[in-house]
This record gives sequence, C-alpha cells and structure tokens, in this order.
Amino acid sequence: MYERSITDSDDFWAEQAEALHWNKGWSAPLCQSNINVENGPVHISWFVGAETNMAYNCLDRHIEAGHGDRVAIFWEGNDEGEERVLTYSELKSMVCRIANYLKSLGVKRGSDVTMYMSLVPELPAAMLACARIGAVHSVVFGGFSAEALSGRILDSQPNVVITSSGTMRGPKPIGLKAIVDDALDICEKHGHTVQHVLMLEQLPLAEVGGSMKPGRDVTWREAVDSQSDECPVEWLPAEAPLFKLYTSGSTGKPKGVLHTTAGYMLGALVTTKYVFDVQPATDVYWCTADCGWITGHTYVAYGPLLLGATQVLFEGVPTWPDAGRCWSIVDKYKVTIVYTAPTAIRALHAKGDAYVTRYSRASLRLLGSVGEPINPEAWRWYHQVVGDGRCPIMDTWWQTETGGHMITPLPGATPLKPGSATLPFFGVEPVVLDEKGNELQGPCEGVLCIKKPWPSMMRTVAGDHARFEQTYFSAYKGYYFTGDGCRRDADGYYWITGRVDDVLNVSGHRIGTAEVESALVEHPSCVEAAVVGVEHPIKGQSIYAFVTLMTGVEPGDALRKELISTVRKIIGPFAAPDVIHWAPGLPKTRSGKIMRRVLRKIAAKEEDQLGDTSTLADPSVVQVLVELRGK
Ligand code: WTA
Repeated sequence: MYERSITDSDDFWAEQAEALHWNKGWSAPLCQSNINVENGPVHISWFVGAETNMAYNCLDRHIEAGHGDRVAIFWEGNDEGEERVLTYSELKSMVCRIANYLKSLGVKRGSDVTMYMSLVPELPAAMLACARIGAVHSVVFGGFSAEALSGRILDSQPNVVITSSGTMRGPKPIGLKAIVDDALDICEKHGHTVQHVLMLEQLPLAEVGGSMKPGRDVTWREAVDSQSDECPVEWLPAEAPLFKLYTSGSTGKPKGVLHTTAGYMLGALVTTKYVFDVQPATDVYWCTADCGWITGHTYVAYGPLLLGATQVLFEGVPTWPDAGRCWSIVDKYKVTIVYTAPTAIRALHAKGDAYVTRYSRASLRLLGSVGEPINPEAWRWYHQVVGDGRCPIMDTWWQTETGGHMITPLPGATPLKPGSATLPFFGVEPVVLDEKGNELQGPCEGVLCIKKPWPSMMRTVAGDHARFEQTYFSAYKGYYFTGDGCRRDADGYYWITGRVDDVLNVSGHRIGTAEVESALVEHPSCVEAAVVGVEHPIKGQSIYAFVTLMTGVEPGDALRKELISTVRKIIGPFAAPDVIHWAPGLPKTRSGKIMRRVLRKIAAKEEDQLGDTSTLADPSVVQVLVELRGK
C-alpha cells in the first residue's frame, strides 16, 4: 500500500476518500500545489471542486448507517465518579444546538470562533458545531494565561468566545471565565471587542471568580439548551478553512496554523484507522490529549468520530487522585487503545509499578506515543508494565503543521524498535538533508524534510502567507522543512533527534525560546534574556533562562520569583523557567548574535566541551557565567 500511495498517489487517495461522504466530487488531479518558492507562491490544494462537511462525516453519516445509539463519548471528569455518556445521536443534537445558537449570533461560513475550556464534551461539540456551519474554530489550551489568550484572540478577531466558568484540575480550581474576562479587557485596549461570550456552567463563579457582563455574556443553559436539535449541514468546498491552531516557532509570536476541510479530514480518518487499527464496533479508544493541542484536534475531536468509534474523554490529570487513575479508567471503560505522551509515561513510571499492576488492564491491545522522542527506557516500561508485553507501541511522529501522523509504525505490520518512530505513513516521502540541502542516502543523520505535499498538510499561516513560506519552504528549496533533526538507520528506520531550531519541547508542549525571552524582558528589571533547553528526566526538556539585569539591580530570590511569575502571566504556568541564571553578560558573536550553543553547554555543566569559541566577542563572559551557576 505504501508503494502505491507514492507511485499512484491520486488513485490511492481517491480510493481512501470513498469511505467519506462527498456532496460533490472532485476534479483531477487530486493535488494541485507548488511547494518550491523558486517557482512562485507556495500553495496546496486537495480535492479541488469537491464539497463535503466534517461534522456530517463525524456524526450524521454514522447515524444514517444505523449507529446512532453507539456511544461516541464516555466522559470522565476530574473527580472519580463524575461521568457522562453521549451516544452519536446525543452528540449530534448537542452539536446542532450549539450551531443554531452560533447562527443566531450571525456566525456563518468563514467566521472565527475562539474556545477556551477544559476537556468536557461541549468542547469537541463546539468544534463540530463550527465545522457544521463552516465557521473556523481556534481552540486555546486552558493552561494559557489571559495575555496569551488575548494575543490569539487579537490575531483571529472572533466575535464569539466559548468558555466555561471554571473547573478542577487535580485538586486545584481553575477560573476559566475570569481568565477570559481579563483577556477580553486586554483585547479592548487593543481595539478589538468580542461581542458574545458563551459560558458553560461548571464551578460557580462565586467560587472561582469571573463575572457575567450583561449584553455580552450568556450561560449555556440560557442560550444553547433551548435551541433546536436539528441544524442543516453547510456543504463546503474542499479547501474551506476548518480551524486555526496557534503554535510556537523559533521566532516571533505564535502563528495560526491553518488547516482546511477535505484533506485534513481524510488524513485524520486514514491515520486513525490504520495506525490504531480502530474497530468501531468493538474498540474503546482513549487519547489523553487536550483539545487545545493538535493531538486533541485530530485524535480526539475528529479521527475517532470519523470512524464512528467509541472514545473516552478525560478531563482530569493522570496523577489525580493518584498515579493509578489512567489504569483505573482503562479498567472502568474496558479501554482497548491508549494514546499518550512520553512525559506522562515517564511521570507515571517514576511513581512505581504498583499503581499500574493493581489494575487488570486486560482490555488493552494497542498503545500509542506522541509529542517528543520516547526514550527506550520509557518505551520498555510502557510496553512491559503497562501493556504486559502484549501491546504494540505506535510511536507517532508528526506536528501541528502536518495535521496527522507522518512517521509511524502500523500495528502488526512494522517490526518495532524502541525509540524509533519507524517508517513513513502512506503518501509521506521523508528525506534527510545535509546542511547544504543535499538529500542523503542510506544510513545518515541530518535535518528532516518532506518531499511532496500530503492531504492533511497545513495550508498557510493565518493572515501571514509570507511567514508560511519563510518558515517552512525557504531553508531547503522544494521541500517542507520540519524543524526536526533525524537519523536514518540501515533498515531505513527514522529516529527523531529533536528540534534543530529554537523551539523547546517541555512535557510535550512546544515553546519558542524567543517567546520566553520576550516575556522575561517585560519585567522592568530585565534588560536581556537568553533561554535554552536542558535535559529533564520527566519533562524531556526544561527551561533554563540566562537573565541580564538593569545596572544597579541586585539579583536575589525575590526577583527570581518575580521573573518566573512574569512568564507564567504572559504565556502560562507550563512555560515557567526551572532555572534563572544571573548573567552580567551573554556570550555573543561580534555581530551581536547570542551563542546559544555556548549557553546550552554552560547550563548542562559541560563547559569543557564548548567547541570553537573563537567567534565570541568577549570570551571572558563564559568564565563569569560558570562561576555564577547555582547562585
Ligand atoms: C516533536 C505534536 C519524536 C517533534 C503532534 C515535532 C516528536 C514536534 C514525536 C511537534 C515523536 C512529536 N517522536 N518527536 N513521536 N511527536 N514530536 O506541533 O519535535 O505540538 O516537531 O505536534 O514535537 O509538536 P506539535
């Protein structure tokens, strides 16, 4: 099948697309694109001429086939005993009610809607409601701060924001509405007024803060519950935008990665089907990702529903009330497929096997991993302890930009090697390039690029096509540049070695060093900051910040705390640096560029391996920094 997907790509994808409903067919060729900036603007289109609808394919199609009573979602709340069950018919009704309410506000094809919620069924339902009427959703992860949320709202300028009052994350209440209120105040100051806020009632506002602004804010009960359960589907062109999802890069503000309808839908369907071998009638699938990240888009909101499968949605955290929660959920719902991240696996491994082995886990048959390279030790624990040596592990390499899995094993078909994402998925042609852009052959190491467009590829950076071309297509002409380094072994297996740009991967979250640096310099005492990643046993990488203070400002623990809380406020708690290293000066080249390579070595206590420092403008800063380490 892989051979065919490359040599006979149009036929291959046309055949796969038959599983979906199309209101109107496409015209040949299936893919119309140019990804070489030297040949004019970069553009990518798939299924030109076709019309379809994501929500119809996720819901109506299965109901019409007689599966309306199948469970779509088993929802498990933060606290044990909080649970809800939604069948496909019930989920469709919820989606239609939300869609009708959005329509009543004037939301229509092409309108932007921002969501800021925890993982309750209403979140994927709101995403599907947008998809049903052609609106473009932008989900912002509930761990982002008001400032970060406001930046994303200002970029996409929605009239409507959907949120909830607040919820528990483990033992901690989180006031989501209060954060939305603050974010919208910031937006006002920048000239954008959000007209409507729809709020799901979870925890009472009196407990978690936030208030209802008359004329702007309505509760779910008032606004949605009374709407009709029927909402006609809007048939959309294949390339109609489906969603924006903001993600971090090596420079500047997070960018709105734009995905469109048909190609993304097909990618989500086909990868979920083949990589997880989902059998809709019998499997219970559980992806632990939040809908605020791409994994929660493709493998929670869309993939499993496109297949008509039953899934678990879990609002809480894996360590609450204790580190056995995931396996208790597996036993409770007889979960067969679990898809999670190495950082979670390592965190649970550290708590000991007893939390796992006290549950049967007999239902499990397949495990997945995503978000960062999985170290062989974590892989083996996941395989031997969690999966009792019985379940293959799908280590899936992909990105927000790729929409779906790119390099991944197929269960039962691909011999596994712990730590390798193995081989390319159908239609994907990876290449390893040297720094001059030459394609390397055989076993090699270099940067990972992709040779040809695939259906679920991002189409642009929302509002900034030049940035799209610059970021992904300029470094290596004629290829999509992933930002990752990789090694290919003698069997042709790919081993992702991590980012080659200034993007960190902290607990599977993508964070740009530039974002953290600009947050730090917002503090009045900080003149300059340089951020690097250091290896961390659980998080994969942790954030290590070198900070230069204003002349006359004394370093100290109070200031250190203030700097960290500035980052929490501007980006979110997950981006807080673990270390602040006082730096009277930073190692720079004569042209003023910070040499991060040198900083990484100092942070890792490897200053004996600095390499060539002849380009440093002032080599003495290195010794000063080494002396200040830990101070
Ligand atoms: C990293 C998450 C190694 C990689 C789906 C990529 C991985 C970035 C893997 C994208 C994996 C993701 N093995 N590295 N299986 N999966 N990555 O956009 O560096 O949040 O470029 O998408 O995560 O992160 P993003």
